[in-house]
Amino acid sequence: MPDWDLLLTDARVATLQDGAADYGVFEGAIGIRDGVIEWLGEHAEGSAGDTRSLDGRWVTPALIDCHTHIVFAGNRAAEFEQRLRGASYEEIARAGGGIMSTVRATREASEDELLRLALPRLMALMREGVATIEIKSGYGLDIDNEIKMLRVARRLGESTPIEVRTTLLAAHALPPEFKNDADRYIDHICAEILPRVLSEGLADAVDAYCEDIAFSGPQVARLFRESESLGIPVKLHADQLTDGGGAELAAHFSALSADHLEYTSTVGVAAMAEANTTAVLLPAAFLTLGETQLPPVDALREQNVPVAIASDCNPGTAPMCSLRSNMMLASRLFRLTPEECMAGVTRNAARALGLPDRGSIETGKRADLAIWDISHPRELAYWSGTPQLSELLTAGHTVNLRA
Ligand code: NIG
Ligand code: FE
Repeated sequence: MPDWDLLLTDARVATLQDGAADYGVFEGAIGIRDGVIEWLGEHAEGSAGDTRSLDGRWVTPALIDCHTHIVFAGNRAAEFEQRLRGASYEEIARAGGGIMSTVRATREASEDELLRLALPRLMALMREGVATIEIKSGYGLDIDNEIKMLRVARRLGESTPIEVRTTLLAAHALPPEFKNDADRYIDHICAEILPRVLSEGLADAVDAYCEDIAFSGPQVARLFRESESLGIPVKLHADQLTDGGGAELAAHFSALSADHLEYTSTVGVAAMAEANTTAVLLPAAFLTLGETQLPPVDALREQNVPVAIASDCNPGTAPMCSLRSNMMLASRLFRLTPEECMAGVTRNAARALGLPDRGSIETGKRADLAIWDISHPRELAYWSGTPQLSELLTAGHTVNLRA
């Protein structure tokens, strides 16, 4: 029996290992067995079922998009125009548009229709080197439609080689059935939606939108207590439009991540550091909303909070189905270095999803690898919209990028 199923030789490898300087670069070979990286070294060793020279091409961990809303129907281009004319995201939401307009379109769509709409979005991310993606519900806001969305997300994972992690975001907006009674809707999520979703194995985490136009801190805390008692990890849309103490709240519940964070205070950052909660920055939403308040990047660095970057792809605040573009925006808008951007879409994105088995090139990690036609990994946060992915491997198998 050969030592490796697949041996990649003559590779330039950016391991993105935690603590390694300069992208963790080395030149050499990668031995893969049973879908896992089993061996790394400068000179190829052992026998292999399949040996392939990469002729000096670069290999990085496959990318991970740890925050998306790619299952939805309709679009909000008319609201985009309204916002360009001066209306704010909050005003549109309070007038019954915003998230609710996508909820109406998504409720009307069948499961098959939602799958048909979401598949090209997933393929677009995959062609940029994404092998793991998180997809949230949150445009159903009732038991049947939240389940419908999550089933579509699971089917996306089953019908592609990409791993899909699903998140229940029933606490995204207040549905019309519970008008003026957010407390009663939170009760309904805790008593009905959450247990049913978990019993059907449809969610890997629970998320909520903590904001003036969505749910208050105490309401989110109630949902998170219930999630905690059921043993499901939490994450939070925190401090996107105002400092609502979202980062502190997420930290209090040892959330996997707190996301957005434009208005997070240094106290919030310290709480996240203490709780080991990953910060997920979403530059496309910052750009699309015309936001000027920058997330506290220096404080996150000083407190050693791991920073991930995600696309947040959604029809309202982030109509941009590209993780590579978000890397470029994170460097340009938030002044993250290209290396921080790479860590943000690999090992730190893996942390934001609670997936210690991936996100860097190390022995024992999944062989989810991206092979690139570039001259240095810093190019990955520099170009966007440029087809530089030469090959994507998930668990050691080449993905068909044309399918
Ligand atoms: O991540 N902030 C709330 N949720 C989404 C926006 C969803 C929408 O506007 O449809 C976000 O930005
Ligand atoms: Fe989001």
